[in-house]
Amino acid sequence: MRDKIVVIGSLNYDVILKIPRLPECGETLPADTATFSAGGKGANQAVQAAKLGVETYMVGCVGEDAQGDYLLESAWKYGVHTDYIRRCTEATGMGVVNAVEDGSVFACIVRGANFAVTREDVDAAEPILKEARLVILQMEIPQEINEYAIDKAKACGCQVLLNAAPAAEIPEAYLEKCDILVVNEVEAAFYLKEKIDTREQAEKGARLLAEKYGADIIITLGSLGSVVCERGAVTFLPSKKVEAIETTGAGDSFIGGVGSALIRGENLTDACEFATRCSAVTVCRLGAQASMPTLDEVG
Ligand code: RIB
Repeated sequence: MRDKIVVIGSLNYDVILKIPRLPECGETLPADTATFSAGGKGANQAVQAAKLGVETYMVGCVGEDAQGDYLLESAWKYGVHTDYIRRCTEATGMGVVNAVEDGSVFACIVRGANFAVTREDVDAAEPILKEARLVILQMEIPQEINEYAIDKAKACGCQVLLNAAPAAEIPEAYLEKCDILVVNEVEAAFYLKEKIDTREQAEKGARLLAEKYGADIIITLGSLGSVVCERGAVTFLPSKKVEAIETTGAGDSFIGGVGSALIRGENLTDACEFATRCSAVTVCRLGAQASMPTLDEVG
């Protein structure tokens, strides 16, 4: 029985600035607080799956710097297998997240070591890929490596979930090889080339993407909820109403939650319902990985 998850992707050292509003051009705006935390979409998703009890392996790169030490320790502390994370000469990747009081988030990433991931790094993980059920990818490592990883994962008999974030052009042939595509409303608009502002637009968009790529589709809609298209059947899942403190990593918590529920044998729609409960916990605490729930904490 294949019950492991392999995440191939990014690890970032996050600086989260809590700000009352976005600064004007030319303005210097004092931030309320600065928090330093372990992040990166790949590492966040791996941590969430591991915290939920799934044997999870991370493939990626960090620098030989203090931030790299911190990210490796964080992933390991939360139960992620870190043997396939390579130290390299490039500086560790970084996320600078402006978290505005109204709940909106404006983030930039510095790619750094994440762009040092090679085909050899993916090859090194082949033994574990042959035992894994699900491979999770995002778009914060080189596109060419993601394409190689998709082919390798399929050759090893894994299901592939691609979180196509941040949005960027991907050859259609590779999207068609994925089993599950996950995007938020901004990324969905990029791939569909039309606005996604409402639940109805997301439902239509999920159906269109599913037909185009022959994959199951999830479109997350922030505080509204998410839409899942599983084997052509579209379901809207409203978010849980909670007092959100900080939403960094909420989408990653959702994806780690989906992955863990799939490993437990749930169908994709039920897995999304479980994942909705995971991200509802994550947004009530500060930071990405630290805020993600264990199985006991998911209501
Ligand atoms: O999805 C949130 C993550 O995106 C942050 O942790 C940041 O590092 C960026 O990768």
